Amino acid sequence: MRLDGKVAIVTGAGGAGVGGLGVVYAQALAAEGAAVVVSDVDGEAAVRTAESIASTGAQAIGVRCDVTSGEDVDAMVRAATDTFGGVDILVNNAGLARGKWSEALILSAEEWMEILAVNTVAPIMCAKACRATMSGRGGGVIVNQSSNGAFIDAGAYTVSKLALNGVTKVLADEFSDDNIRVNGIAPGVMTAKLPQEQVERLLARQTIRRPGQPQDLVGLLVFLCSDESSFMNGQTVVIDGGMARITK
Ligand SMILES: NC(=O)c1ccc[n+]([C@@H]2O[C@H](COP(=O)([O-])OP(=O)(O)OC[C@H]3O[C@@H](n4cnc5c(N)ncnc54)[C@H](O)[C@@H]3O)[C@@H](O)[C@H]2O)c1
Repeated sequence: MRLDGKVAIVTGAGGAGVGGLGVVYAQALAAEGAAVVVSDVDGEAAVRTAESIASTGAQAIGVRCDVTSGEDVDAMVRAATDTFGGVDILVNNAGLARGKWSEALILSAEEWMEILAVNTVAPIMCAKACRATMSGRGGGVIVNQSSNGAFIDAGAYTVSKLALNGVTKVLADEFSDDNIRVNGIAPGVMTAKLPQEQVERLLARQTIRRPGQPQDLVGLLVFLCSDESSFMNGQTVVIDGGMARITK
């Protein structure tokens, strides 16, 4: 129970998408003793996930929040404060994943703004919204969900996640006076729900030749959220079966 007494927000944790990494993150933080605010633009999915975590005896609430809306983000932080007394951990997991975002030149200006709003700017706004409560509690931890796609050609997605790694560095510096550490996780492909032919192509690029599972990320997440990483700040750790090492 390395996070006993802590309060964590995980964005994009409803589980309505294909990867569902936010759900696994919320479950993992709850299993370590944190009270968890499960947040997602799909409010019903957020509540379902929170209820399933609460059914294990942990503390969890579900909140609808579009991370690109300032009002929603403020309401999410207020819900955490009203229910659990404040925020210690923010996991900026919500993101627009690949698909059409893997291409740069087909996207319109509006689509560029959309992916950058969700993947790059929203983590800054969520961090800003949590700063006062974290500071009031003596400090906190922010984890930004990047991707090994930051280092491998994946169109607009690459741009948004590489920029997010920059956000991690900048926030680590700017929030250091409040004892708030900011680090990132850059996963590889963490879903078994891909066509076999695509899985084989990806495995050939990895040095560890098995598909990644969301559970592969949990040890790193808990490490970054706990005092075990108290001397680490501004870093984004790649965890992708050794794929980015080849193509970086
Ligand atoms: N799954 C992977 O293999 C993988 C690999 C590397 C990085 N990532 C990153 O991990 C994160 C989660 O990915 P996933 O695969 O679990 O995706 P997912 O689609 O399963 O989950 C993303 C969640 O974000 C929510 N969301 C989307 N826009 C939102 C918004 N504006 N406000 C709030 N919530 C919003 C969706 O409703 C969904 O529940 C993303 O940031 C993604 O880029 C995923």
